[in-house]
Formats: sequence, structure tokens, C-alpha cells
Amino acid sequence: MTKVLIATVKPFAPAAVKEIKAVLDKANYDYTFFEKYNSQDELIAAVKDADAMIVRSDKITPEVINAAGNLKIVVRAGAGFDNVNLEAATANNVVVMNTPGQNSNAVAELAIGMMIYQARNHFEVGSGTELKGKKLGIHAYGNVGKLVAHIAKGFGMEIFAYDPFIPKVEMEAEGVTVFESAEELYATCDYISLHIPANKHTVQSINYDLLSKMKKGACVVNTARKEVIHETDLVKVFEENDSFKYLSDIAPDNKDLLTERFGNRCFFTPKKMGAQTAEANINAGVASANQIIAFINNGDTTFKVN
Ligand code: 3PG
Repeated sequence: MTKVLIATVKPFAPAAVKEIKAVLDKANYDYTFFEKYNSQDELIAAVKDADAMIVRSDKITPEVINAAGNLKIVVRAGAGFDNVNLEAATANNVVVMNTPGQNSNAVAELAIGMMIYQARNHFEVGSGTELKGKKLGIHAYGNVGKLVAHIAKGFGMEIFAYDPFIPKVEMEAEGVTVFESAEELYATCDYISLHIPANKHTVQSINYDLLSKMKKGACVVNTARKEVIHETDLVKVFEENDSFKYLSDIAPDNKDLLTERFGNRCFFTPKKMGAQTAEANINAGVASANQIIAFINNGDTTFKVN
């Protein structure tokens, strides 16, 4: 019987767990939900006899992969797979997949929610501002960026985008003004919504060169990965642009310094909240289970990333 380990430090919503179980039961697979574990050692012990894994942002290190002698596939229930060591997986003939698009709406709604929260002064006394009429720059027009653009249009925002990997005509067909450089996007917009993955090209790439181009009062919303921001440069920009704002789904490493010095000009979720909805968990969790079954039973490698 194929054994699936669902290893989630941050568990799926109960409704998602129920649906994942139903999919695996129907396929006659064995499974274990290994939730809220406390250490990598516990994960290493739990993975021993797993044929397949479903994970979220859980760290799938070479040690985890090496400890899993039967492992054939890891599905990251989500978009970003920077938490999975692809080299170790490939070296051990383990297929890695993600589930693109399945949790995108949840992340997009959070990005808009954070903009509103900031525009309304964290819901404190006093007058705020509106999103209507403001310029929104989408940095990377993938599944999430596109949905943020769609929702923001409903608020009457003017949408701009920069994404060298998406054909310009596709973005323009959606009424988006496309820039050829990130610099232009940052110099033009009141809000920048980040949707780039974290990889060796993008880590710390949102740096002084880009952020210092932003207008007075401009705001960066990061529902991508904290690692893409150059945190030292961020402090410099906060100092120089006295109404610059930064919102991030998960706190940066220099969170204490930023909140102490710049107060309400920043906001950080205590834990990564972007995909924390029942709907996103159901979509990504069920897709993961189905992808594992399709791979084990039929060798289907759609969504393989290594
Ligand atoms: C993703 O990459 O899909 C999101 O960042 C969600 O991550 P999570 O599953 O850890 O909430």
C-alpha cells in the first residue's frame, strides 16, 4: 500500500483534511497526518517509510530526503517550492511538484486586505486614504499577481505590471499598462505588490536601487517571500522617504528595528497567512493528493519542478 505522509507544521484546515482523506481513501492509499511537529528530527523520524509526501512551507532538507528511503514524490501544496531542496531530491530520484494557482486567490485577497489596512491607518482613529484612483504596480504577473490586478480593478485602481516572463500582449489584453523595467514600475506606482518567487536571482533583489525610486507615501506589499527584500536597504529607504510604507506577510528578520523606528509605516503578519483559508487548503491539498495518485499509478509528471 502506498504510504503518504502529510507533513504540515502549519496544519491544513479541518475541511481540507477531510477532503484529502477522502481522495486518498478512494485510491486505497495509506496516510499519516503529521502536524505541528517541533523539530526537523521529528520530521526525519516520521518520513522513514513514506512513499510520498505532501508539505506546505515545511523544510525538506537533504537530511529529510536521505532519511526517506522509499520516497518517490514530494508535492508542495502551494506555489513556492524554495523550501524543498531540489538537488537532493533529484539526486535521490524523488520527483518534486507544486500545485500552481490552487491557493492564489487567498494570497491575492490578503494583499488587497493589507493595502486597505494600511490605507486606513491600521484602523486607528483619524482619516485614511482610499485605494480608488491609486496606481498599483504588480511585480510579476503570475497566478497571484493577475488576481491582485483583477480585484484591484474593482476598487478603481490603475494597474501597471512588470514581468519579463509573460508576453506583454497577455497583460495588455487585461487592461494593464506594462513596463519594460522594474525601475519604471517602482518610480510610477503608489503601491507595489510583490509576486516574485525566492530563488538565487531574486533573493535581496528588492533593494535600494528600486525602493529609493518610489514616491513619497508609496507602499510595498510583500505576500511573496521575505527573502526577496534587501532588509538593510529597506531601513535606508524608510529613513530617506519619511512616508514610505512596507507591509509583509511574515515578518522580516529586522522586524523589531522596523517597528520600533517606523511604527505604523510597517505591518507584518505574525505567521505566513497568505494561503491560510479553508478554500486554499482544500484546493491545494486535494490537488496534491490527486497529483501523487496520478504519478504513482500512471507516471504523470505534470507540475514536476525538478
Ligand atoms: C505558497 O508558496 O503557496 C504560499 O506561500 C503558501 O505557503 P503556505 O502553504 O506555507 O501557507
